[in-house]
Amino acid sequence: MAKQYRVAVCGATGAVGNQMIGCLEERNFPISELRLLASERSRGKTLTYKGEQVPVQVLGQGSFKGMDVALFSAGGSTSEQWAPLAWKEGAVVVDNSSAWRMDPDVPLVVPEVNPQDIAQYKNKGIIANPNCSTIQMVVVLGPIHNLARIERVVVSTYQAVSGTGQKAIVELQDQLKALYEGRPVEHKVYPYQIAMNLIPHIDVFKDNGYTKEEMKMVLETQKIMGDSSIKVTATCVRVPVVYGHSEAVNITTARQISPEDVRRVLAQAPGVKLVDDPANKRYPMPLEAAGQDLTYVGRIRQDISQERGIDLWLVADNIRKGAATNAVQIAEILTRDYL
Ligand code: A2P
Repeated sequence: MAKQYRVAVCGATGAVGNQMIGCLEERNFPISELRLLASERSRGKTLTYKGEQVPVQVLGQGSFKGMDVALFSAGGSTSEQWAPLAWKEGAVVVDNSSAWRMDPDVPLVVPEVNPQDIAQYKNKGIIANPNCSTIQMVVVLGPIHNLARIERVVVSTYQAVSGTGQKAIVELQDQLKALYEGRPVEHKVYPYQIAMNLIPHIDVFKDNGYTKEEMKMVLETQKIMGDSSIKVTATCVRVPVVYGHSEAVNITTARQISPEDVRRVLAQAPGVKLVDDPANKRYPMPLEAAGQDLTYVGRIRQDISQERGIDLWLVADNIRKGAATNAVQIAEILTRDYL
C-alpha cells in the first residue's frame, strides 16, 4: 500500500484552511490521520472530511506531535510563533502566511515554477506558500521567462475580498444586502465600503509609497523565479468580487517575441489555461476561474508602446491556486520525494 501521512491543518476554520481540507479530499492526499487546529473561539466545532465529522482542536503545545506535515493558514503571528515549534515536534510546515517567505533559509515555492526548491525544507522545516497574486502571475511568467527572459513587469491587480478571509466575504454580502434594502452600510474589515466600490490599498503602506502587498509581488516574484534582476512594479486593488484575483500584466522581454509565441508556450504550460478568443468574447473572468485550480490567461497582445512588450490578462481562484491548492501541491511533492 502507498505510504500514508499524518497531516495537520492549522487555521482549519478559516477561508483558506477550509479549502485546504477540501483540496486534500479532492486530490485524495494519502492521509492516515487528519488533525484540525484553530483558536479557542472554535472549541467544540467539527468540520467535515470525506463525509466524517472531525473535531477542531485548540492550537497548543503538542498539537503537532506525531504529525508529518502541517499546513498553516492562521495568520502571520500564529505562523511566526508556531511554525518553528511544529518542526520541533516533528512536522514539516507548509505556511500560507507572509511570515517566513523572504527568509533566505526558507524556500518559497510554486510547483509549476521552482519545485526543486522544496529540497531546502530541511533548513528550518518550513516551506513558504507565496502571496496569492504572486502565485498566479509566476505560473504564467515562468514559461515566458524561459522563452525570452523577462526584464520588467508592470502589474495591476483586481483582488477578491476572500483574500482577506471569511469575515470580508460576510462584510461584502452584508453591505450588498444593506444597499438593496436601503439601510445604512457598515464597514469593519476594510477602511471603506467595498460594495459598489474599489479600494487601492491592500495590507499596510510602506515608506516608499507602495503597500506591503505590492512589495510582496516585487520581492516574491524575484525569489520564486530565482532572478533578482527582474524589475517589477505593482498596484494592488481590492474589488467587490468574492473569489478570483485578476491581473493586467505588461512585460518587457530581452528578446522580441510575438503574441503567437506567448500563446504557443502558454498552451503547453502546466497549470495554465489559455482563454484568448476576443472575436468570440472569450477572455478570463473571475466567475469562470472561481472553483478551478488553473490560472486563466487571455487578452495576449503586442504592447503598441514598445517593441519588446507584451500585454496579458490573467485570473485565478485566489483561495484555491492562490493559497490552498498550491500548499497541497507542495505537500504532495514533499511527501512523494522527501518524506
Ligand atoms: P478561529 O476560527 O478559531 O478564529 P480567516 O483568514 O478566514 O479569518 O481564518 C483564520 C484562521 O486562523 C481561522 O481558522 C482561525 O481560527 C485561525 N486562527 C487565528 N488566530 C489563531 C490563533 N491565535 N491560534 C489558532 N488559530 C488561529
